[in-house]
Amino acid sequence: MKKFQHPNLMKNIKINIKKYLNEQRQLVEQGLHQYMLSEKGEFAGHIAAMRYSLFVGGKRVRPILCLASSRCVSENQQIDHLLLPAACAIECIHTYSLIHDDLPAMDDDDLRRGQATCHKKFGEAEAILAGDGLLTLAFDLLSNPELPGPSPEKRLRLIATLAQRAGSAGMVGGQFLDIDSERKEIPFSRLQTIHRAKTGALITAAVRMGAIGGGAMEDQLETLTEYGNNVGLAFQIVDDLLDVTGTTEQLGKTAGSDAEQGKATYPALFGIEKTRRLAEEAVQRAVDALDSFDSRAEPLRELARYIFSRTS
Ligand code: IPE
Ligand code: IPE
Ligand code: MG
Ligand code: MG
Ligand code: MG
Repeated sequence: MKKFQHPNLMKNIKINIKKYLNEQRQLVEQGLHQYMLSEKGEFAGHIAAMRYSLFVGGKRVRPILCLASSRCVSENQQIDHLLLPAACAIECIHTYSLIHDDLPAMDDDDLRRGQATCHKKFGEAEAILAGDGLLTLAFDLLSNPELPGPSPEKRLRLIATLAQRAGSAGMVGGQFLDIDSERKEIPFSRLQTIHRAKTGALITAAVRMGAIGGGAMEDQLETLTEYGNNVGLAFQIVDDLLDVTGTTEQLGKTAGSDAEQGKATYPALFGIEKTRRLAEEAVQRAVDALDSFDSRAEPLRELARYIFSRTS
């Protein structure tokens, strides 16, 4: 049976994505400042390195997706407040993944978020530990009963969702395959697995966590997962594209580093035009997946389009 569909009219309520992103970023920044450890006491030097990478910049796409997803399924006016620690936890995991991704043993990059990478600024061991600290802090934010959050049962589901998709079956596994595939010819199926795992998994986790925290029904969760999978894949395809077409200044990270490292990327396999088309198709699948949602999904639709058209 065909699902009940809201009138198309309801889908045409347009949001100003630039304004929306600014407002949402502010909300996430507030949360990060509130929940991040302060730079004092015996571990101040360690916390300084964590804070540096977390606050030096960043688009905050994953926490924004998490909150947008929760609003799609929840009428609760307090939902932002309840899920802000969870949204911040995802940004902590993401920032840790960037710190480790830039290390000499991995992508060996000097520039991140427009500034020196963590290991360039603080040293390699300190950067590894800053990443470890952020990874662990994420699970503290999710499980700490003193912080706002949904019911204990939902919290447990959030923790499991993030652990599964950030770990060896998700981001970490994808990073392994990425490194393992350097300077090799790999089939398309492997390339897709890498992109879905190293980047898509955490983005899907963000969308699912918003949905779970907001009390999504099973079919809503499935729909949002489909959206997350496609938008997550698109995100990394566009990241590959920008590495070729963007400038270092615009990206805040060294342009052209993928080719230099012999990375397995979409442009390397398909060229720029086809890569752009594949990214667009993934974004379209993401938007199509939201067909059964009304205007409350408009931010998610616009976020998908932004992920395709972004320039940094
Ligand atoms: C960069 O992520 C690394 C990828 C997973 C592609 P972002 O493009 O979200 O980086 P920031 O957070 O805005 O710096
Ligand atoms: C990184 O992919 C994915 C992560 C899990 C960090 P990239 O290596 O392409 O990310 P950038 O281009 O350095 O941001
Ligand atoms: Mg990498
Ligand atoms: Mg990299
Ligand atoms: Mg990249």
